[in-house]
Amino acid sequence: MKNILLLLLISCSFITHAQTLQVASPNGKLKVSISDETNQPQYSASFGVEQIIEPSALGLVFKQQAAFTDGFKIVNTTKGSNDTSWELPWGERRVVTDKYNELLVELHNSELIAGNKDSAGTYSVRIRVFDDGFGFRYEVPKQAGYEQIEIVKENTEFALNNADKTTAWWIPARGWNRYEYTYNETPVYQAQHVHTPVTFKTDTGIHLSIHEAALVDYAAMTLNQRRPGRYVADLTPWYDGIAVKTKTDFTSPWRTIQVSKDAKGLLNSDLILNLNEPNKLGDVSWVNPGKYVGIWWEMHVNKSTWGSGDKHGATTDNTKHFMDFAAKYGFDGVLVEGWNIGWDGDWFFNGDVFSFTENYDDFDIKQLTAYGAEKGVKLIGHHETSGNVTNYRDQMQGALDLYAELGVEQIKTGYVADGGNIKRIDKNGIVRKEWHDGQFMVNEYLYNITEAAKRKISINTHEPIKDTGLRRTYPNWIAREGARGQEFNAWGSPPNPPEHLPMLAFTRMLAGPMDFTPGIFDMSFNGLGDKTNRPQTTLAKQLASYVVLYSPIQMAADLPENYEAKLDAFQFIVDVPTDWEESIALDGAVGDFVVFARKARATKRYSGDDWFLGAITNNDARSIDIDLTFLDTDKKYEAQIYRDGDKAEWKHNPYDYVIEKKVVSSTDKLTLTLASSGGTAIRFKAL
Ligand code: NOJ
Ligand code: CA
Repeated sequence: MKNILLLLLISCSFITHAQTLQVASPNGKLKVSISDETNQPQYSASFGVEQIIEPSALGLVFKQQAAFTDGFKIVNTTKGSNDTSWELPWGERRVVTDKYNELLVELHNSELIAGNKDSAGTYSVRIRVFDDGFGFRYEVPKQAGYEQIEIVKENTEFALNNADKTTAWWIPARGWNRYEYTYNETPVYQAQHVHTPVTFKTDTGIHLSIHEAALVDYAAMTLNQRRPGRYVADLTPWYDGIAVKTKTDFTSPWRTIQVSKDAKGLLNSDLILNLNEPNKLGDVSWVNPGKYVGIWWEMHVNKSTWGSGDKHGATTDNTKHFMDFAAKYGFDGVLVEGWNIGWDGDWFFNGDVFSFTENYDDFDIKQLTAYGAEKGVKLIGHHETSGNVTNYRDQMQGALDLYAELGVEQIKTGYVADGGNIKRIDKNGIVRKEWHDGQFMVNEYLYNITEAAKRKISINTHEPIKDTGLRRTYPNWIAREGARGQEFNAWGSPPNPPEHLPMLAFTRMLAGPMDFTPGIFDMSFNGLGDKTNRPQTTLAKQLASYVVLYSPIQMAADLPENYEAKLDAFQFIVDVPTDWEESIALDGAVGDFVVFARKARATKRYSGDDWFLGAITNNDARSIDIDLTFLDTDKKYEAQIYRDGDKAEWKHNPYDYVIEKKVVSSTDKLTLTLASSGGTAIRFKAL
């Protein structure tokens, strides 16, 4: 009875006094405040002595009902904290620490419509503050008048403090090409309408990344800069302009801000994963990280075609050749694109005619899966939709069943279509065009994942919705593209510039694993120099990318003959694992360079004793001193070093590499010497 009274007293006092409440990170450095002292509730944040987010609005605007913006007051608060850990079935590390303080704030407006005492609205903001950043989300309970709702706008702001002295690294939102752009480095005022994750650096060196976590049944959040430095959430709309169609109760995705005193701190953060729901699939021992090769690059460099005819790549013979190569060097799978009917003509426009169950006559799918099974190599499936998602949806059950029957356990999907040009046919037969990151597609991608999971199939989505950490909840969402991949080096205009990979590391990769497809050994397919389409890297940088760009599935993207011509360097790709016990970003600067150390996870194939290191640089050659303190202190290692040769530089001399070995331990230091757009890859083999 005493407790109940106390509670009542607390809520009464909250109703009468406007207030500002604060919640701090476990180490006390990051502080987030929420206030109802202004007409519209606001939040703000500081890191150490610096304000990082100035008071920024909160709120939601609906099409039919009164908005949840002005006049909301805090009526109740609940505090909590957590200090636990959980395990990733596959990932950059096995054990993830989940430590935060939480504040749940309930906001109420008893007179949403002026003069109407019966109109009321309630929502809550849940804030979680970790040492590496914070997240908050809206939780909207069931309430009268708000059963069915259409959100037209989210008022959430992100007002950067000191924006005129802050640098932004970004790609444009709502453009023609989804997420496949080169990254821009500009002052904040030029970063007008951007995708997340977007990275910022203040003049005092604080790094921030704004993104979202657990994007489910909601529109993606892009950021639109209204006043200088003040971004507002811009939700990608449906074809009809509505952002989110839902009903109460619902929760929004988490709005996230990772914060670090330096660039590498962003890479060592688990904030996005921690803000996702735990695994919903139960036993996922059938989800297998690994390495693959495939009938893929040869089409991108015009050696063969997806479509049928003399140059058809996906033939039974060619697939056997790849399976033989995969078996010889210990690869797990062979991806085959162009195996199914529908590629003839310009496949970009073939979304209406793809069959996902009928193979071309020269591709014997049954014989090939049996052939692979004998050799311990899986066929990796491929479904390109060319953006016609209804054609895919209509065939999805049969298509997944076929692969499941044949023992295929991983499928790469594709949604090639311009931004805003995903074609769907609604239940009245009307064609609607949607964005890749609107609510409709957010749901469509996830439907594909859950249908695949029923058949123990993992999905690698190309032209995806951006990653928001859903691999924690659905571990069969094994990778995705969602940025400019290696393919741009075959035909992109321009190809990926030397800074692209150290840029990806601090931007796109903060969202989650990327199927970049590294490992091009022959860069001279059009000739060398900087005017042709080719990877603008040295060969050693291609190797180092396997460690730097995390993905549980990694492709060795080049043709078998190009690997067999350089078997000594290829050995690194053969040896490198794709599943890690631990990962540590050791050093880096956004777009300039990055160094990662990762420890192999013990699996069927790997002992779990070895460490690996990858370092890559932009156009600038550089030396980087590395302390080997990350190595296990009780062991000695043979460092197998694959580095740029003394004359290496990416434009004219990319193949100059040196492989050397030395015995090291955790008390040693190494100086890495990277050529222009070069890299170093090291296997520390436990002795
Ligand atoms: C786009 C994908 O990113 C690429 O890897 C694939 O080859 C083509 N679509 C064809 O499906
Ligand atoms: Ca692509």
